[in-house]
Amino acid sequence: MENKLIPKEAWGTRLGLILAMAGNAVGLGNFLRFPVQAVQNGGGSFMIPYLVCFLLMGIPLLLIEWSSGRFGGKFNNHSTPYIMDGMGKARIWKYVGVFGIFTNIAVAAYYTYIESWSLVYVLHSVWGTFEGMTQSEIANFFTSYVDVFTTSTGIPFEAVFFYVLVLVLNIFILSKGLGGIEKVAKIGMPLLILFGMILAIRGLTLGESGKSELFPEANAWDGLNFLWTPQFDSLTNPKVWLAAAGQIFFTLSVGMGTIQCYAAYIKANEDIALNAVSAGFMNEFVEVVLGSSIVIPIAAGYLGLDWVLENAGFGMAFQTMPFLFQQWGEIAAAFSGVLWFGLLFFAGITSSLAMGTPWMGFMIDEFGWGNTKGAWSFGAMALIMGLPTVLLYQYGVFDEYDYWAGTVSLVVFALLEAVLFSWVFGINKGWNEINEGSDIKIPQVYKFIIKYITPLLLLMVFLSALITPFQNEWAENISSVMNGGNWVLDNSSLIKNISNYGLNEELNTAVNETEKDFLERKKFYINLARILLISLFGFICFLVYLSNQKRIKEGRKNYE
Ligand code: ALA
Repeated sequence: MENKLIPKEAWGTRLGLILAMAGNAVGLGNFLRFPVQAVQNGGGSFMIPYLVCFLLMGIPLLLIEWSSGRFGGKFNNHSTPYIMDGMGKARIWKYVGVFGIFTNIAVAAYYTYIESWSLVYVLHSVWGTFEGMTQSEIANFFTSYVDVFTTSTGIPFEAVFFYVLVLVLNIFILSKGLGGIEKVAKIGMPLLILFGMILAIRGLTLGESGKSELFPEANAWDGLNFLWTPQFDSLTNPKVWLAAAGQIFFTLSVGMGTIQCYAAYIKANEDIALNAVSAGFMNEFVEVVLGSSIVIPIAAGYLGLDWVLENAGFGMAFQTMPFLFQQWGEIAAAFSGVLWFGLLFFAGITSSLAMGTPWMGFMIDEFGWGNTKGAWSFGAMALIMGLPTVLLYQYGVFDEYDYWAGTVSLVVFALLEAVLFSWVFGINKGWNEINEGSDIKIPQVYKFIIKYITPLLLLMVFLSALITPFQNEWAENISSVMNGGNWVLDNSSLIKNISNYGLNEELNTAVNETEKDFLERKKFYINLARILLISLFGFICFLVYLSNQKRIKEGRKNYE
């Protein structure tokens, strides 16, 4: 049986491993999610919590995941169910490990959709589609593109076609095993950094030169100052801390299961400490230096900071950048469009490839599958899960996946694995794993941080999300409870989210039948999205159960 991602396989070169790991981390989160999170959380107010979260949660989780992965690899376990099972005696850990496969399939389902937008925008930049379009025409182009059934971009079901195409491309590369991933990372990462630097230089040198009659206040420096002037008032605002922690998880790909899988293919005596820190810092360089020097300053440079603050959102880069590039002339616009959307595409695909590997690793280890079967089955599941996000984008299915799989799931899994590592496996054993074969000395203080600070912070992040108070007024709510009052939950809290509280409220106050009809459909589709997510989780649990029965029958111990 063809089986290139077999347990004995290892990364070709150290550079290949670091680039693949950095490619896993560097993604759409760095260029699209980070600027929006920073803007929505007060710019300079966001940066301090963000950096603290990187040091106290990001780095420790990287070390935990890299070392857990290499540890699992020693026993031929390449995905989280059996990596975790080998670290804790209780049976439950292999089911906790299901998160490390589930999250990847669910995130890949909508993540590859954004990847396909990037590819399409590369093509439209070359075709000159955006030539002569006004800002609102370009914004409408995007809205129309994602409205699959009424698209007016000229190509029927263009979004679906390109989505499937990008998925097939991912499947094809995955079917080549680790070598294919390494090759893409070796080409994609340097190109991405080069493209990013060219655009960042433009962002940093634009200044006031982009202002116009329509936007006389435009100035790129306003965008940069907004991001880089430190503000200390946010240090007591849990909402900003939550957003910062969420961004750190997403951008580093911690709490997902991909790092453990990649690390499981590292040789037993090879360094992980320096590798983990290098890949983590490379991601931060791309995010903080390049990610903050492109969309925000360029958009502020042409449209003004107020416009950016009002319109910050996930699609912002697709709705603005082609217009801004047009101001540089026809050829430069096509060239910049290719650079920018090409950069997004490379960033995206090196991350989505990583998302395919935990499922493949599991099926190969447990059921003897080959890479081709593993890759196609991953693609099929991502397609089944992903089509609703494409077809029902307007109804919030995409956001629902991003919330449960791309946000909540990461925090829950990170918390559980931090507890497993320090308190069940044991911090002494864990610390030895981190330091074995290490090329650098991780400061001893991290042993303390990993054992106490990281799990505590993760618990706080989770609880704060669970019971977010009304309008994020923490101080008011705490003092109200102390005076015998009630804790009033915000609609964004996890508890109210589960019960669709906010949506029900909107439904009750709908002003006309059209709005009511839309909201009713939205509720239906959101519930459908949840059923799909739960079914996927249940399905993987079932496979873990089957694999365990198989191991028992074959007399195969879980960590041998
Ligand atoms: N870490 C990946 C990103 O930032 C998922 O997009």
